[in-house]
Amino acid sequence: MGRQPVRRKIRFWLNDELVELEGFGPSMNVLDFLRLEKGLRGSKEGCGEGDCGACTVLVGRLVDGYLTYESVNSCIRFVASLDGCHLVTIEHLRGENGKLHPVQEQMVLHHGSQCGFCTPGIVMSLYGLWMSNPDALESDVKMALQGNLCRCTGYGPIIRAAGAVLQAGGQRFDPLLAERRKMQERLEKLADGRRVEICRGGEMEKGGDRGLAILPSDVDDLAEVLLQYPGATIVGGATDVGLWVNKQLRELEVLVFISHLGELQGFEKKGRELVLGAAASYSSVLPAIERHLPQLRELWERIGGQQVRNMGTIGGNIANGSPIGDTPPALIALGGSLVLRRGQERRSILLEDYFLAYGRQDIREGEFIESIRIPLPGGEEFFAVYKLSKRREEDISTLCGAFRVRLENNRVDEITIAFGGMAEIPKRARAAEKALKGAEWNNAGIGRGAQGLREDFVPLSDVRGSAQYRMLAAKNLLQRFYLESTGRYNGGKSRDHAEKTAAG
Ligand SMILES: Cc1cc2nc3c(=O)[nH]c(=O)nc-3n(C[C@H](O)[C@H](O)[C@H](O)COP(=O)(O)OP(=O)(O)OC[C@H]3O[C@@H](n4cnc5c(N)ncnc54)[C@H](O)[C@@H]3O)c2cc1C
Ligand code: FES
Ligand code: FES
Repeated sequence: MGRQPVRRKIRFWLNDELVELEGFGPSMNVLDFLRLEKGLRGSKEGCGEGDCGACTVLVGRLVDGYLTYESVNSCIRFVASLDGCHLVTIEHLRGENGKLHPVQEQMVLHHGSQCGFCTPGIVMSLYGLWMSNPDALESDVKMALQGNLCRCTGYGPIIRAAGAVLQAGGQRFDPLLAERRKMQERLEKLADGRRVEICRGGEMEKGGDRGLAILPSDVDDLAEVLLQYPGATIVGGATDVGLWVNKQLRELEVLVFISHLGELQGFEKKGRELVLGAAASYSSVLPAIERHLPQLRELWERIGGQQVRNMGTIGGNIANGSPIGDTPPALIALGGSLVLRRGQERRSILLEDYFLAYGRQDIREGEFIESIRIPLPGGEEFFAVYKLSKRREEDISTLCGAFRVRLENNRVDEITIAFGGMAEIPKRARAAEKALKGAEWNNAGIGRGAQGLREDFVPLSDVRGSAQYRMLAAKNLLQRFYLESTGRYNGGKSRDHAEKTAAG
């Protein structure tokens, strides 16, 4: 059966209104669309780079046939990615009989707002939590607010308001929840499985391809599109690409969106491997991480804020080639590999071989990452990953170290160590591994491994940390790993000892 004809417009629900849009620029962001085109100015622009949360909105989409709402940063989200979704803004919130919504009401009662600039974003984040998890704990509230910056009220009153709203309940009166079935049916009607192409100014028929947004119909179609436009920019969650547009003012000619493709989502455990779809968001694979790789949970919860985790993808974190991306060190230490696809051809490479040099990765024109395969550590192995950053949350790493060891008779049978933030690419510490292999798993052995790190890395000094700091911290992380593996790490109290031994 031939392919269905291409659709030239996107269709989505904005609050209660069906929106059909064509001929817009591929990199128009949702916040500009709301404020400038629709006159909905409740969502605010603070940073324009996904950091402050003032622009938070909810996006509802069908996941495995079920309508799911997530908080996202509208400033870095491209409008084209809304095809088939329900966009919910602060203007849509209302309580029973036109009263304040319970989240708004508790924010008022608990004095959760002063200047009010951050308030719509905070209300939307709390609304998202209240809808999806009525039994949320204070720790869940803090997680939901990681990506929302408030400069003047302080978080105490906001967290108290959140606690009160969770206790107050009232979800059954919420229009979004009450009308979920209806909205689900509306979105199902929009899902026609067709490729969408939007050309700026609607010039497609005249042969123009300047300013093109393409939403392939499925993964095979994506492979075709990328052969046709090998220089196109793939857009996963846009948590990097959105910043290229907003902050670097880059003009992107052809954007190919992939986050709507079910085949690139999700996860599967195959034997001793966990396979993640390249366009799976951090939030969507959290259940798999909790179940199969609990050692990564803390790292996961410290990547960006909730909105970034709802949008950002694992494939994007790898493909961007950043030396300080958080997942590569852990996935390299675990022996992870990538499945890359170009047209109908697939090849598999070890993740550690993907990073060639700063800004250069082993990916060809027209190729994309299809999935990430992660061997799960065996019961006899000890694995850990540590992220050091200036702020605990909503901050990228200064340094990230991942370690996996298998011992036999207290000697190192196999060890893999990988660091981010120590070189121009995420990289294995081969000299340290060599020094440790076969060595006794004790302080003396670890000291020799720490010496090896000096051969492996000549770190840079930058605003996040000096070269000296990075080297000392890397050695200390190795020491911490050793202490944890022997059950002797006691929450940082042994730090002096660790510094003495590892600084060597
Ligand atoms: C506020 C904020 C906080 C952040 N905090 C962190 C953090 O704590 N830790 C961290 O590691 N990162 C962080 N980031 C960076 C970013 O969120 C992550 O790197 C994220 O995983 C990128 O994924 P994405 O899908 O949004 O990428 P996109 O922006 O969509 O794409 C990034 C790059 O990858 C390419 N690409 C995407 N998918 C594929 C694919 N399947 N095949 C080939 N190429 C592809 C794109 O073309 C582009 O070059 C943060 C970003 C923001 C804005
Ligand atoms: S404006 Fe700051 S996160 Fe969007
Ligand atoms: S109330 Fe002013 S920034 Fe939060």
